[in-house]
Amino acid sequence: MVSSGGIFLAKAGVAQAFSDMAATRNSQLDDTFYQAADSFFPANQKIGLTFDDITLATLYSEILPRNTQLDTVLADGLQLNIPAISADMDTVTESRMAIAMALNGGLGLIHYNMPERQQLSEVSRVKYHVQGLIQEPIKIAPDQLIGDVLKLIEERKFGFSTFPVVDEKGKFIGLLSGHVVKPRYATKKVIEALTPRKQIHTITKKELGKDPIARADKFFTEHIGIHKLIVVDDEDQLHGLITMSDVERITQERKAQFKPARDAQFRLICGAAVSATRNAFGELDRERILAHVGGLVERGVDVVAVSTAHGHSKGVGDTVKVLRDAFPKLPIIAGNVTSAAGVEYLADCGANAIKVGQGPGSICTTRIVAGVGIPQMTALYICSRAAAKKKVSILADGGITKSGDIVKALTLAQAVICGGIFAGCTEAPGEVVEISGKMYKHYRGMGSLAAMKSGSAARYGHEKADATRKVAAEGIEALKESCGSVDRVLATLIGGIQSGMGYLGAANLAQLREKARYIRVSPAGQREAAPHDVVELKTGN
Ligand code: XMP
Repeated sequence: MVSSGGIFLAKAGVAQAFSDMAATRNSQLDDTFYQAADSFFPANQKIGLTFDDITLATLYSEILPRNTQLDTVLADGLQLNIPAISADMDTVTESRMAIAMALNGGLGLIHYNMPERQQLSEVSRVKYHVQGLIQEPIKIAPDQLIGDVLKLIEERKFGFSTFPVVDEKGKFIGLLSGHVVKPRYATKKVIEALTPRKQIHTITKKELGKDPIARADKFFTEHIGIHKLIVVDDEDQLHGLITMSDVERITQERKAQFKPARDAQFRLICGAAVSATRNAFGELDRERILAHVGGLVERGVDVVAVSTAHGHSKGVGDTVKVLRDAFPKLPIIAGNVTSAAGVEYLADCGANAIKVGQGPGSICTTRIVAGVGIPQMTALYICSRAAAKKKVSILADGGITKSGDIVKALTLAQAVICGGIFAGCTEAPGEVVEISGKMYKHYRGMGSLAAMKSGSAARYGHEKADATRKVAAEGIEALKESCGSVDRVLATLIGGIQSGMGYLGAANLAQLREKARYIRVSPAGQREAAPHDVVELKTGN
C-alpha cells in the first residue's frame, strides 16, 4: 500500500522531472529566432557582421559565473589558463607586459620593432622572472674580490646580493651572503668572507622529488631564518638555488583560480613575433630568420608568431614552412587572414594557430586605405570552420573594446588578441603623458608611418626605407587613457567573460563554442544595449 505521503512524494518527483525537462529543453520558437553558428552565419552570408551587429541568446544554466573554466589549448604544448593574448605591438608588449599577462594565465607576444638581440633579452626577462628553481644561479669564484661582486651587482642591476661560490670545477664551496657584500670589504677576497660549505644546508636534486616547491616550502619552515636553499648533486656540484620569496609567491599563486601560464620548467610562458624578413635581393632571408628564431628557442620562447597584415601570401607561408622544418615541435602562430583558404594555406604550411583579423583594430586604417578586410564575426565564423577541419586553432585579433566582444569572439575562436585594451596599462611600454589634467599613454598601429620607420614596414609588405617614400600608412598614432595595471584590466574582462558563460550555461570554453546562439541587432537594438536616457554617475570604483 502506498501512503498518502508517498503519493505526494511521487507526484512531487514527477513534477520536478517535468520542470527539469522544461528547463533544459530548447523551445522550437527559440530555435527559429536564435540560431546556432552553422545556421546563423550562412543565413547572413550577404553581409559582413562584427561584434555589435549580433548578440547572444541566453540558455538554461546551472553554471555560476565564478565556477566557469577559461583554460584553452592553442597548440600541442601551448595551453593558456585564460584566453587572452597581448598584441605584438611596440606600444603594447615588451617583457613587462608579457610577465603580467603570463602571471594572469595569458600570453604576451613580444613585438619585433627592436633589434633582434634586444628581443632575445626581452624574452629572457620573461622566462627568468620568478622561478621556483633557479637552474643557472649567478656564481662567484673564491679568488674574486668583494669589490668585483659589488661592480657586478651595479652593472647587471641585480636585486639580490647573496651568491653561491664554486671552485673551477663547479663544486659548491660556500655561500657569499649579502651582509658581507659591502664597500668596506671591497679589497677582501670572497674566500675570506664566505660562509663555508659545511655550515650550509643543501638538498640534492633527487631529494627535491616531484614537487620541488612543496619540498622547499617544508625546508624553509623547518629551518628558521634560512632564505636560500642550495641544490647540489652527490658530488657537491652546484645544480641550482631556490629562494624563499619565490616559493612563497608560487605557493600563493597555486591558490588562485586562474594560475599563471608556465612551461614544464615552471617558468612563465612567453611568445615573440617574427617577420618574413627579406634579403637585399627581395628573397626570403632564410638564414637570418632561422638564426633569429634559433636564438629565441635557446632563450626558451614558447611560441613564435609570424605576424603580417597579409598572411595568405607566399612570404608568410614559406617562413612558416622554414620554421616548421627547423623546429618541428615549436608552436607557431601565423597571420593575419580572414578567409578559409588563408587558414588552410597557413595550416598546411605548418602553423598551429592562425590570427584572424584584417582591419578591425582600433588603430587600423587598412579598410579605409586599401578597401580590404572583413568584419570580425563573419571572418571568425569562416575561419573557425576551416580551422576545425585542419585541426588548428584561431585567434580573434583586433577590434575588441569590451568583455562582451570577447565572449562573442570566444564562441568561435580559441583566444583573443588585444592591443588597445592593454595599451593604457602601466605595464605597456612608454611613458604616461598628461593632457588637460588627464593621463594617457601613446598607442600606435604597427602600420603607422612612425612604427614602420622603427621596423615594422615588412609586416605591411614595404621596405623600412620605403616609409619615407610613397607608402600609405595603414595605421594611426593615438592616445589611450591610462587605465592602471594589467591585473585590474584583466580582472574586469575575466569577470565579463565568466558572466557571459554563466548566461549560456557554459562551464568551459568548449561548451561556450557549442552552445552559442546568435541573433542580429538593429541600430536601435545597439543603442538599447548601452546605458541610455540617464546621466551616468562615475563612482570611481
Ligand atoms: P586593437 O583593436 O586591439 O587591435 O587595438 C590590435 C590589432 O590590430 C592590428 N594592427 C594593425 N592593423 N594597421 C592595421 O590595419 C595597423 O597599423 C595595425 N597595427 C596593429 C594587429 O593585428 C593588432 O593585434
